[in-house]
Amino acid sequence: MSADMSGDTTDAPVIELRGVGKSYGSFRALDDISLSVRQGHVTCVLGDNGAGKSTLIKTLAGLHKPTDGEILVDGEPVEFANPRDALDHGIATVYQDLAVVGQMPVWRNFFLGQELTGRFGRMRETEMREITRERLTHMGVDLPDVGVPIASLSGGQRQVVAIARAVYFGARVLILDEPTAALGVKQSGMVLRFIAAARDDGIGVILITHNPHHAHMVGDHFILLNMGREVLDATREEVTLEELTMQMAGGGELDSLAHELER
Ligand SMILES: Nc1ncnc2c1ncn2[C@@H]1O[C@H](COP(=O)(O)OP(=O)(O)OP(=O)(O)O)[C@@H](O)[C@H]1O
Ligand SMILES: [Mg+2]
Repeated sequence: MSADMSGDTTDAPVIELRGVGKSYGSFRALDDISLSVRQGHVTCVLGDNGAGKSTLIKTLAGLHKPTDGEILVDGEPVEFANPRDALDHGIATVYQDLAVVGQMPVWRNFFLGQELTGRFGRMRETEMREITRERLTHMGVDLPDVGVPIASLSGGQRQVVAIARAVYFGARVLILDEPTAALGVKQSGMVLRFIAAARDDGIGVILITHNPHHAHMVGDHFILLNMGREVLDATREEVTLEELTMQMAGGGELDSLAHELER
């Protein structure tokens, strides 16, 4: 897989969290979180509303400083001053409300802030168009024209452009916050396929989701958060989809609700 492609056969984590905690004032949003992200692996972070998923990614993305614990990148402790700093360490985050410029063409959005320029600062448009098209095709999305405004794309396609962009600009770890939350079945499928393609390219993926089905389709490792704590930490071999779904629903809670609502 990926490790072979890069010639790097070590299975050492790219990122490791050790006992990470985060308090907002006296409120404990995360407590004692430990997880590893490896090249070519998808780590899914599941949990109900308010479980601490976004807090966890904000900590990893350099938006929040952890209150306790350590973050290691390539085995070295790091402290991210800001998101740029995390990006410089190869950690890219795709947020659900994508920062895109709707009326600009797809290729402009792809290269936004990192445009290829030639002499006298002239934009190398043909080249940027070609790269955008090639990267999207490589990851299984055939867009007839990368010159259309990004606003004309579906939500799923927009997610895909954001992911392709992060991969192209050298992300080693890709954090996706609920990329399928607002999508229907077909578009979710496209995004999940894309996540698998990024994984096969050797990227370490952290997938935040509410959806145990989506998690189980692409995940190698599952972390379940509940009120800021890790209540499940299992590999694909250790947990079935049924167990994952059951755990997500808080054990038998959904079953008893079904009984309660029965008429
Ligand atoms: N800036 C903040 N200040 C104070 N409390 C916060 C802040 N951000 C989040 N919280 C609290 O921390 C807890 C975890 O929030 P977080 O956004 O991480 O949850 P989440 O798992 O991402 O939920 P959702 O699925 O709804 O997105 C919640 O109780 C939330 O109210
Ligand atoms: Mg959230």
